[in-house]
Amino acid sequence: MAIPDSFIEELVARSDIVDVVSDYVTLSKRSGANQFGLCPFHSEKTPSFSVSPDKQIYHCFGCGKGGGVISFIMEIENLPFRDAVAFLARRAGMEMPDESEDDKERQGRRTRLLELNRAAARWFYENLAKPEGAAAAAYMRERRITPRTAKIFGLGAAPDDWYALTNEMRKRGYTDRDLIDAGLAKKGKNGGAYDVFRNRLVFPVIDVRGSVIGFSGRILGDGEPKYLNTPDTPVFQKSRNLFALNLAKRSKRDMLILAEGNVDVVMLHQAGFDCAVASLGTSLTADQARLIKHFKENVVIAYDSDAAGVKAAQRAIGLLEPAGLKVRVLRMEGAKDPDEFIKTKGPEAFELLLERSANHVEYRIDAVRAKYDMDTDAGRLGFLQEAIRMLAGSFNPLEAEVYIGRVAELAGVGRESVAEQLRIVRRGLAGKNRKDAERAVMRPERAVQPDSKRIRYANVPSALAEEGVVKSLLRDPELVKYVGGLEPEDFSAAFLGKLFGTIRAKAAAHEPVTPAVLMAGLEPDECAHLTRLLQEPVNAANAREAMGDYIEVIRREGLKTKKDRDIMAIRENYQKKKGLGG
Ligand code: GTP
Ligand code: MN
Repeated sequence: MAIPDSFIEELVARSDIVDVVSDYVTLSKRSGANQFGLCPFHSEKTPSFSVSPDKQIYHCFGCGKGGGVISFIMEIENLPFRDAVAFLARRAGMEMPDESEDDKERQGRRTRLLELNRAAARWFYENLAKPEGAAAAAYMRERRITPRTAKIFGLGAAPDDWYALTNEMRKRGYTDRDLIDAGLAKKGKNGGAYDVFRNRLVFPVIDVRGSVIGFSGRILGDGEPKYLNTPDTPVFQKSRNLFALNLAKRSKRDMLILAEGNVDVVMLHQAGFDCAVASLGTSLTADQARLIKHFKENVVIAYDSDAAGVKAAQRAIGLLEPAGLKVRVLRMEGAKDPDEFIKTKGPEAFELLLERSANHVEYRIDAVRAKYDMDTDAGRLGFLQEAIRMLAGSFNPLEAEVYIGRVAELAGVGRESVAEQLRIVRRGLAGKNRKDAERAVMRPERAVQPDSKRIRYANVPSALAEEGVVKSLLRDPELVKYVGGLEPEDFSAAFLGKLFGTIRAKAAAHEPVTPAVLMAGLEPDECAHLTRLLQEPVNAANAREAMGDYIEVIRREGLKTKKDRDIMAIRENYQKKKGLGG
């Protein structure tokens, strides 16, 4: 069922775009009305992503994406229109109209579980100061986690008791079902619920919006299993969240440090590296890589230095780079993980390590080398081939140049022969990429064409006039009096025609016409282009005359197109008659 415009209007009014975007992007005010940040949709170093509080739109001067608050959520959360509206409605505390009972129930359930998680996290934290939390508090001291750090992370103590949390939450009105659904309790043989987290140090997992979505519990000392983690629940998907991202996203450092262990992350923050995060008891996922990209451009992998850590790091590089992130890998010599490194060598040494962190190219070359027996000719040849393929595929010529020498040295061959091999491999790849390069070449009309190929203008002069009509009407709907017999079908660009139709209908009914309402009926690429238009100046002084000119151009160009079509038809007919085929 369609969502009424009035609902969309109110939703947009209650969802300030600066607020919403700030959940994902760090914005700062420069001169002028707009706020700027690093675009979450493409890779960049200097902010070209702008948000206009006045117009309530965003636009990236780099990649061309743009739109209103709804299209932003559609794009960044990868949601269809309806779900994006529901997402924002939830955020704004509005109830979706004609929401099915199912949806409502699901939403109510989520809210309930989040409340329960929050209550549990607070209770775990308060336990640290009580006798039943003494063991966890002692373990924290042993690991040298300070009370201040515990407070920042909301760390807590799960007592050595099968029912402590369950009983406490029951008293507060939560049911066993609630506790089980949240992953905090399990059903026992006798049917009752019992606590999952017992005698553990508890790390709450908090999402970027500040909701407690799950927990990790570490055993107090040695033993198995070392960690217990909340399973996937209606409010927790571990593959889509990162531990401590809620803190790291606010860090002033221009990178994220990706560690393996919760304790590593906590210790890194405590030592001043407040941009550390960890995946939640699983290996890194593509979703997590994209999530990182929303906040930072650079990732430093600081995994454990054992064989498993090295393997995980290689895997992570393969996910982080395609997400558009710049990746570096730390090599911690003489320590098994960041926690141990900082404890034995100090934060300053870690800072140095960060600065000098092995460039990932070098790291990958070393990893390739480790696969071959370099004492044999066959091994060296295998290494050479794989290393060259890697240099050719993943790095720009300049970067690769730096590493030709290293590969040559490891393989025991001359630099020039490696360079020659690289050229050959690269030429082979070039055929594949040539088309992309051609496409990137600037065309003269590039500046007016929509970025999306799907909605490219077939007739640029007409499309420009059509844009003029739309822009003028948006500025002053009263101008609808002067559009004469212009119809949406007269437009050469279908989506501009569609906009025109909507605006005309609204203006005739004396309903407000706002970008938000218009965008609700558009595809994302159309939204992006409309946003671009809205940033351009409108000829306000002679609006009425301009309207006349626009219409004239649209009519003239329309006739031309029609003529072209007629000529085509005549030619086809002729060819058919002559038996030339069509
Ligand atoms: P310590 O430094 O030994 O205190 O632990 P750590 O927090 O650094 O964790 P470690 O490096 O041993 O493990 C890395 C991550 O893997 C942990 O943070 C957990 O998320 C996960 N993990 C480790 N052990 C287990 C386990 O027994 N079960 C599950 N599900 N996950 C685990
Ligand atoms: Mn560790």
